[in-house]
Amino acid sequence: MKNKFYVTTPLYYVNAEPHIGSLYTTILADVLASYHRMKEEDVYFLTGTDEHGQKVQEASEKNGISPQEHCDKYSEQFREIWKEIDLHNDDFIRTTEERHEKVVKKILTDLFEKGEIYKDKYEGWYSVAEELFITQKEYEEGNYREVKRISETNYYFKMSKYQDKLIQHIEENKNFIQPENRRNEVLGFLKQPLRDLCISRPKTRLSWGIELPFDKDFVTYVWFDALINYISAIKYSVDDEYFNRYWPAVHLIGKDILTTHCVYWPTMLMACDIELPKTIFAHGWWMSEGKKMSKSLGNFIDLDTIREYFGNVGDNAFKYFLLKNGPLFSDSDFSKKRFYQVYNSDLANDLGNLVNRIFKLIHKNYDSKIPKLNKLTESEELLKSNSEILTEEVFSLLENFRVDEILNKIIKYVSSINKYLEEKEPWKTVKVDLESTGTVLYSALASLRVATGLLYPVMPSKMNDFFNVLNNGDKSETILKWSGLVEGNEIAKIKALFPRFDMNKIL
Ligand code: MSP
Repeated sequence: MKNKFYVTTPLYYVNAEPHIGSLYTTILADVLASYHRMKEEDVYFLTGTDEHGQKVQEASEKNGISPQEHCDKYSEQFREIWKEIDLHNDDFIRTTEERHEKVVKKILTDLFEKGEIYKDKYEGWYSVAEELFITQKEYEEGNYREVKRISETNYYFKMSKYQDKLIQHIEENKNFIQPENRRNEVLGFLKQPLRDLCISRPKTRLSWGIELPFDKDFVTYVWFDALINYISAIKYSVDDEYFNRYWPAVHLIGKDILTTHCVYWPTMLMACDIELPKTIFAHGWWMSEGKKMSKSLGNFIDLDTIREYFGNVGDNAFKYFLLKNGPLFSDSDFSKKRFYQVYNSDLANDLGNLVNRIFKLIHKNYDSKIPKLNKLTESEELLKSNSEILTEEVFSLLENFRVDEILNKIIKYVSSINKYLEEKEPWKTVKVDLESTGTVLYSALASLRVATGLLYPVMPSKMNDFFNVLNNGDKSETILKWSGLVEGNEIAKIKALFPRFDMNKIL
């Protein structure tokens, strides 16, 4: 049986448009999915939108449209941009879809019947802005906005009873929460006694939600509803075979939604007797020009700004930058200058030049046909064995989500091919010895081809341009084999893959 890889992004709220944060997680998921497809695994990549709750209700009222109309409009923006930048999600789930609501209701009914959900009166602090009940201590710390005292009857999920089991699971499974700093954060949080989770909101206060199947005066709390998407999308309780084909998932999230994913969600699954996710990976945040992104500071990387960058360099190069410099472990800073620097040095200089050099020489001196590989010297053997080592490293780094390091390694290998050419000087030797120069060009091109194969998940359309002119009939299974480059094949003319940017003009 094939290995499986089920990867998810958070469901994005429809009260804001896509920005660099949502973009980053979704690109990361897309690239992981693509590498796993390369390994011929059974891959499922899920993303979508989170559409219930107070904020949507308020925003739609303000705009004089129905909440559903509001959701349709904003959800579409996400689907549009993902398509525009060529992401390949297998599914897009919306929490207002019937397939999702059905599963949420089924779980609520099951848990209610099992006595895992009970009704109780609460009197205490409530943050209207965050839609959360908070403790006296949290109130005193003052980190929540629009806090008021309320007294309300609601339904509660017995989350507290799973505290010890959850701690044990986190301690025994090193890969469950990654990276390690986030794991420690969750374990730290679990040192205080866990409370039961309020999972309803009275309709008198909020009507835009999934009605509780056992009490029509209440709707489901938006987080309890939204988290269930990860299993409703793959047909939990509807089609067991399909569900088991993909579950458990790898969840990619940002650091701010750690507690909901690492505490609420696993305990909900425990109560349902469902296996826990394989991994929850929480990345850091993008800052912008040294500060937290904000509309009022003018450093917010919104959809228009993103489109502008994509427009200038193409989506592929922008993805490359985001993944190489992104906040995998700690926060990262986005700066325009840094972006064009990385573009020029890695893509225009290292990769782009290498392609030009090789193609030019082959067109001019070998009638556009890939030269024959003759006797390999130590340097060619080294390039070849390094391509094998690199491929292994890439797939092993993948297990730890180190996409940044993957790109570092690949570009280092590309530099080493350039260095090889500088040592061999084929532009000089071609005038006196076509045969040995042919071996040099074959070797450089064979190495470049492996590097582009490994870059494919990050820059699919650019690398396809390269494969097309190379005309080698490559498929993903063969592309990573150095000697898979066919001698005598005719290569086509290539346009500059990554034209250089004039930094003075840009800045
Ligand atoms: N709807 C919830 C998630 C429910 S999942 C069942 C939510 N949505 S969100 O739209 O507010 O945030 C989605 C993701 O964007 C979060 O993972 C958050 O960390 C991420 N980001 C928001 N701003 C970000 C940056 N500046 N940088 C990186 N990611 C950030 O929370």
